[in-house]
Amino acid sequence: MDPIKNPYSPNAGAPPPAFVGRGAVLTAFATALGRIQIGKSQKSMLPTGLRGVGKTVLLNRFAEQARALGYLVAQIEASESETFMEALASEARTTLYELSAKAKIRGAVSKALGVLKSFTLTFDMAGLSVQLGVDPQVGAADSGILSNDLTALLVAMGQAAREEQTAVLIAIDELQYLNEEQLAAIIMAVHRVTQLALPLLVVGTGLPQLPALAGNAKSYAERLFDYPAIGALSREEAFEAIRKPARSEGVDIEDAALERLYKITKGYPYFVQEWAYRVWNLATKSPIALDDVDRAEPEVLARLDESFFRVRYDRLTPREKQYLRAMAELGPGTHRSGDITRILKVRVETLSPLRGGLIKKGMIYSPQHGDTAFTVPLFDAFMRRTMPTL
Ligand SMILES: Nc1ncnc2c1ncn2[C@@H]1O[C@H](COP(=O)(O)OP(=O)(O)OP(=O)(O)O)[C@@H](O)[C@H]1O
Ligand SMILES: [Mg+2]
Repeated sequence: MDPIKNPYSPNAGAPPPAFVGRGAVLTAFATALGRIQIGKSQKSMLPTGLRGVGKTVLLNRFAEQARALGYLVAQIEASESETFMEALASEARTTLYELSAKAKIRGAVSKALGVLKSFTLTFDMAGLSVQLGVDPQVGAADSGILSNDLTALLVAMGQAAREEQTAVLIAIDELQYLNEEQLAAIIMAVHRVTQLALPLLVVGTGLPQLPALAGNAKSYAERLFDYPAIGALSREEAFEAIRKPARSEGVDIEDAALERLYKITKGYPYFVQEWAYRVWNLATKSPIALDDVDRAEPEVLARLDESFFRVRYDRLTPREKQYLRAMAELGPGTHRSGDITRILKVRVETLSPLRGGLIKKGMIYSPQHGDTAFTVPLFDAFMRRTMPTL
């Protein structure tokens, strides 16, 4: 089929042509936004899921929902580099200027800018603080204790939003990269904002270890957030995700082809997009058939191995590769740490730093104590392809 008209979107964060299977979580989020706007207290949510299930796309949808209701939206992507608070302060600055554009810099908005100025000075964000042409708010966000100072900042922003009769959404992607101090500070700030029923909502997405990280940072986190699991699409949803975009280009696809695509991708959204994209380019006539899927297989696997899987593999040390290869020997799903160490013929304790490092890199997570699973779907098969022997 014409590659120019190819409707699929196999790229990180790219909105899919048919966004399927996320109705319940979008509805729940719309309710949360509505409640916050009228001053009702509301749990926020932190959707979690494996790599490529559509967390970023979902978070972008949340942001769109919020903007449509008149919210001001600050979006931040956390990374391993620990510069999260700078990114947050910078977004806070933009948001506060958007707020003040609605009126003049006065009252609570002016105070919030002063609090932000204090915050940037306290935490040595020189570049940002110069740009903020206001005086620091003495006594606010200047204790040097991140939890307290971030709380002061978000409370001031919430008060500014309330005074201007609007609401603010702070949307954070890759939340699992925050260190414990940063995560604890966010949770404490959200706690305070919720108690004061201010019109400011924090939503975030992350890998499946996020609920445990948040619980460790602050034990009351589970009462502040829901953690909806974002997972693979069901068979029907995967069929729709592939068939609908094709039909809107006047192309059909046989059930047998869809069945095979579902079986290979297991309904993981990123794989669904990547496979559908390649199969479309390879097929020459409508309806796309099973044979087209089979012919695409070598090319798609090679492409996935070179890109999606390879970028992750290349960040591993030789010992980490060995550990993951041993895990892959046990197949997909969750494995006991003891079983992995048995394959490697070492004691469990000797591997805990290695395992901890892999969790930090976001390669694996612990669904429950003593268990280990890949964060990247189908990574076990990739490891066996790339390292055929243990
Ligand atoms: N509900 C959906 N239906 C169909 N396709 C989807 C859906 N959600 C996401 N996708 C597609 O899946 C791919 C991955 O989406 P996205 O980048 O949002 O995943 P992610 O969970 O943020 O991944 P990562 O953990 O690597 O950041 C994209 O190509 C996107 O178009
Ligand atoms: Mg993402």
